[in-house]
Amino acid sequence: MSANTDDVQVRVVCHSDRERVIDLISTVTSEEKQLQTGAYQATPTWERLLSEGICYEDGFVLLVAEVEGHIVGFTRLTSGACGPKDRHVGNVGIVIQREYRSKGIGSTLLEELLHLTPDLGCSKLTAEVIASNECSKHLFEKFGFQVEGVRHQQFRIGDEYVDEILLATWLPTEC
Ligand SMILES: CC(C)(COP(=O)(O)OP(=O)(O)OC[C@H]1O[C@@H](n2cnc3c(N)ncnc32)[C@H](O)[C@@H]1OP(=O)(O)O)[C@@H](O)C(=O)NCCC(=O)NCCS
Repeated sequence: MSANTDDVQVRVVCHSDRERVIDLISTVTSEEKQLQTGAYQATPTWERLLSEGICYEDGFVLLVAEVEGHIVGFTRLTSGACGPKDRHVGNVGIVIQREYRSKGIGSTLLEELLHLTPDLGCSKLTAEVIASNECSKHLFEKFGFQVEGVRHQQFRIGDEYVDEILLATWLPTEC
């Protein structure tokens, strides 16, 4: 597949993207060893992301990157994992199809996401990456994320226990 990225369009996911986003998750999780998650699971959170795309009141968004009609990546932000007490914390995930990596698409998605973050009611962003996932760590650090902690041997991938790095960044809060 060619990887011409001259014409990357970033937008909120829409209903007709559903199967393409799920296919992308399946492809990336099956080939990527440095990811915590497995195949798509229809959790209530993911179902809302895919059906609503963005909700300012509840603080979530799913942005997709489209190149020549193909969805080649996405980033999602969800907040309030524990309810109102951490509603100000947006957790970020990002995936780019292998053939389209290292072409700036991940950066473009995160840039757009950061623009939306204040309106989504988040003042802190978090992300978790497997310790050996240097590319992902580099990408988040480029956008101001810092290491907040390490969960040692948090995942078992194949025969190996691997650490998970917790990253976070804080956005200016309104006075
Ligand atoms: C992490 C990921 C989203 C990055 O997307 P991308 O489109 O390749 O990102 P970009 O091209 O915008 O930027 C990649 C950056 O990492 C750098 N990079 C690439 N490989 C690297 C490596 N092995 N070590 C360190 N940095 C690396 C690139 O040089 C670039 O840096 P720069 O912008 O300073 O030049 C993509 O690799 C991916 O989907 N990985 C699998 C899923 C994943 O790990 N998601 C993160 C967990 S939520």
